[in-house]
Amino acid sequence: MYVLGIETSCDETSCAVLKDFKVLSNATISSLKQHKKYGGVVPEVATRAHLKNIDKVLSASLKEAGITLKQIGLICVTSKPGLIGALVVGLNFAKALALSLNKPLVGVDHLRAHLFAPFLNHPEKIKFPFIGLVVSGGHTDIYRVKDFDRLTLVGSTQDDACGETYDKVARLLGLGYPGGPVIDKLFNEKEKSAFTFKCGRRDFDLSFSGVKTAVLYKKQELEKQGELNRENTVKLVSSFQGTAVEAITNVVLDAAHKYKVKKIVCGGGVTANRYLRAQLVRKAAPLEVLIAPVEYTMDNAAMVAGLGFYLYNKGFKSSINLEAQAG
Ligand code: KG4
Ligand code: ZN
Repeated sequence: MYVLGIETSCDETSCAVLKDFKVLSNATISSLKQHKKYGGVVPEVATRAHLKNIDKVLSASLKEAGITLKQIGLICVTSKPGLIGALVVGLNFAKALALSLNKPLVGVDHLRAHLFAPFLNHPEKIKFPFIGLVVSGGHTDIYRVKDFDRLTLVGSTQDDACGETYDKVARLLGLGYPGGPVIDKLFNEKEKSAFTFKCGRRDFDLSFSGVKTAVLYKKQELEKQGELNRENTVKLVSSFQGTAVEAITNVVLDAAHKYKVKKIVCGGGVTANRYLRAQLVRKAAPLEVLIAPVEYTMDNAAMVAGLGFYLYNKGFKSSINLEAQAG
C-alpha cells in the first residue's frame, strides 16, 4: 500500500510516501533559517511557513515516489504533541486529503514516531520489548515499550529538554542556532573532562538546567580573566557534551537493566550527535542498540507514515474529527 505521511509539529514541513515500510520519498522544507535571529522556534513564523510550503512538499514527495495522489491508500499525520498552530496546518491538510480521496486517516504521536524511525525500511527489526529514548529539542523521554500502543514513560527531564540545552549553551557562547550540530562539530573527546559539570538525576528523571547555568558561570569566569578564547570554548562545549551524553547513556542503561530489556531504540534530533551515537553503542554492549539513520533523526514525515501504517495494520483508524493536541 502507498502511505502518505504528513509532519508539521514544529519547524519542518514534511511529506513522505512509503510503500508499506519502504521509504520512497521524504520531502522536507525547514523554516529553521527564519528562526535563527530569535535563537529558537517562533510558533507564528513556523505556522505561516507550513501554510506556504505544505503544497510544495506534497507535490515533491509524490513526484519523487513516482506516484499520483490517487494511488495513496492511507494518510498519516502528526496530531500531537507540538506547536498548536503548526499541528493544525498539517492535520487540516490531512483531513482534507482523506475526505476528498475517501481514504482512512491515522493520527500519530510525534514522539512515538521518533521511536519508529529506526524501523523504517526494516520492519523485520520490529520486536518488543525495548527501552525507547527520545531526545529532541522539546523532549528527553525514556519509555518502556511493549508495543507502539503500549508505552510507559519511565523517565523524563525535570526542566529543559536535552536539545534545548544544547541550543541554550550554544547561544550563551555565541555559537548560533541550532546548537546541537555546532557543538557536535566542536566537540573534542580529549577535553570532555576539562571542566567539571553535572546533570541532575532522580530515579530515571534528568535535569539539565544546572549544567547550563554551570557553563554560563564558567564562561563568565573565563571572560573576566580574558581567557574566553577558542581553546576554552572547545573545552566548555566538550565538557558540557561529555556530561550530557554520560547522563543520558547511564539513565537509559539503568532503565534497560531494571526492566530486564535487551534492546534500546533511540530517536529524535539529538540522536544525530556522533558522540551520543558512539557512546550508546559502546556502553550498551552486549545489549542491542537501534538508532535512526541520521536523515531520520530530525523531524520528518517518513517516521509518521511508518508508525501510522504499523498502527493501521493493528486496526487503528482516526475519526475525521481528530483534534490537534499541543501537550
Ligand atoms: O527532533 P528535532 O528535529 O525536533 C524536535 O522535535 O524538537 O530536534 C531538534 C533538536 C535541536 O535542539 C537541535 O539542536 C538538536 O535536535 N540537534 C542536535 C544535533 N542535531 C540536532 N543535538 C546534538 N547533536 C546534533 N548533531
Ligand atoms: Zn521531533
